[in-house]
Amino acid sequence: MGLSLGGLTFSAKSYANIIGANERINVAVMGTNGRGAGMARLFQGFDGANIIYVCDVEEKALAKGLEAVKRAGGNAKAEKDIRKVLEVKDVDAIYYATPDHWHAPAAIMACQAGKHVYGEKPCSHTPAEGEWMIAAARKYNRIVQIGAQRRSWPGVLEAIKELHGGIIGKVYFARGWYTNKRASIGFGKQTPVPSNLDYDLWQGPAPRRAYRDNLIHYNWHWFWHWGTGEALNNGTHEIDVIRWGLGVDFPTHVSSEGARFVFKDDWECPDTQIINLQFGDDCLVTWEGRSCNSRKSEGGDRGVVFYGETGSMETGHNGYRVHDLSNKLVKEVDSKDVIDGTNTSSPAANLDIVHIADFLDAIKNNRRPNADVAELHKSTVLVQLGNIAWRTGQRLVVDPSSGHILNSPEAQALWSRTYEPGWEPVV
Ligand SMILES: NC(=O)c1ccc[n+]([C@@H]2O[C@H](COP(=O)([O-])OP(=O)(O)OC[C@H]3O[C@@H](n4cnc5c(N)ncnc54)[C@H](O)[C@@H]3O)[C@@H](O)[C@H]2O)c1
Repeated sequence: MGLSLGGLTFSAKSYANIIGANERINVAVMGTNGRGAGMARLFQGFDGANIIYVCDVEEKALAKGLEAVKRAGGNAKAEKDIRKVLEVKDVDAIYYATPDHWHAPAAIMACQAGKHVYGEKPCSHTPAEGEWMIAAARKYNRIVQIGAQRRSWPGVLEAIKELHGGIIGKVYFARGWYTNKRASIGFGKQTPVPSNLDYDLWQGPAPRRAYRDNLIHYNWHWFWHWGTGEALNNGTHEIDVIRWGLGVDFPTHVSSEGARFVFKDDWECPDTQIINLQFGDDCLVTWEGRSCNSRKSEGGDRGVVFYGETGSMETGHNGYRVHDLSNKLVKEVDSKDVIDGTNTSSPAANLDIVHIADFLDAIKNNRRPNADVAELHKSTVLVQLGNIAWRTGQRLVVDPSSGHILNSPEAQALWSRTYEPGWEPVV
């Protein structure tokens, strides 16, 4: 496995050796149905990492995770309760790929238990949870890396460096998009919980709801109680690159339109959505999500374009293209890495390894990782504000120093959520 950029080739082996085998970091993987199983295999492929626990609350997913580790030459123990895994002294770090309502609670519990964290995006289910995650990371002095892997892709790093160096002058507008062709999830029925699933632990911090047969796996993404819609499921990647490129923190105004247009079913979030983020008189950002129509934009099923005073730059894939104001291509760097936006578990496995390598190196050198929780919290808040604007039907006025919503009790109520009693995160 390797990745190349501008003639340079980064081999998996050079990443695998980033931490020597004699200083192995013991990792526990939580949630291994889709994303987690693929990442478990990649983690185990590093000389410097060893997966010693696979944790899942559903038996088939647990078996998938164990098999992935085994195929990569490891031999992990199985456990369904993450609280028991966190008690194991030998576990140095956890990686989680669970539903979104578990992200912040798992990260906070792990920091308290003295473990480093690689947590999947979105950073958190609500903005308040992101703030608590930062507090936990700092209080317990743990490395907390979020799965915004573009932060480690060489082609995107170079693109952002060029942008900050002024290759298209002052940038005042950026546009991100994501497209897919997702099917309907139908209308679920309340049925008995399958015997292979511990639904109580699956719900964990979320207030209890009856089991329904069109929720697990994956479809929880489209219910606000557990998921965060396409905006955070995928928009979070492009919005993070945009915020990074523009060098901004929080907006002054946020609005969003859209609906569940394409199918009539249980899906609660919009399947087609526009989010607009205004940063005073500095710049404007817009994100377009099309969950059910995969017509590409600028040749990509997902991506980012920055518009500046002297030209535009397209990136988001592992490379970039710069055009001048006459639409002439003036620079192109293409890694030829194929990123399949419609692949829901591993859109670019060969690029995931660089982000894992960064995490392991951050632990080894006790430094902030590329996608440190404090940075990813800011990016996640942008899309969370977009969803809050959509859910309330309001144009939000935001404090640009904190991201907090001003003057709207209805919108402010969605800054946090209620928890199942006994599961409230406490830093
Ligand atoms: N960085 C990326 O590019 C990328 C790609 C795909 C998915 N993701 C993220 O990964 C996460 C998982 O996505 P998925 O598609 O694999 O979802 P999924 O529903 O297929 O898998 C989630 C797994 O978590 C398990 N789980 C739930 N509660 C658990 C608990 N308490 N303990 C242990 N396991 C538990 C479920 O049983 C299931 O096996 C999501 O947050 C998603 O946004 C990130």
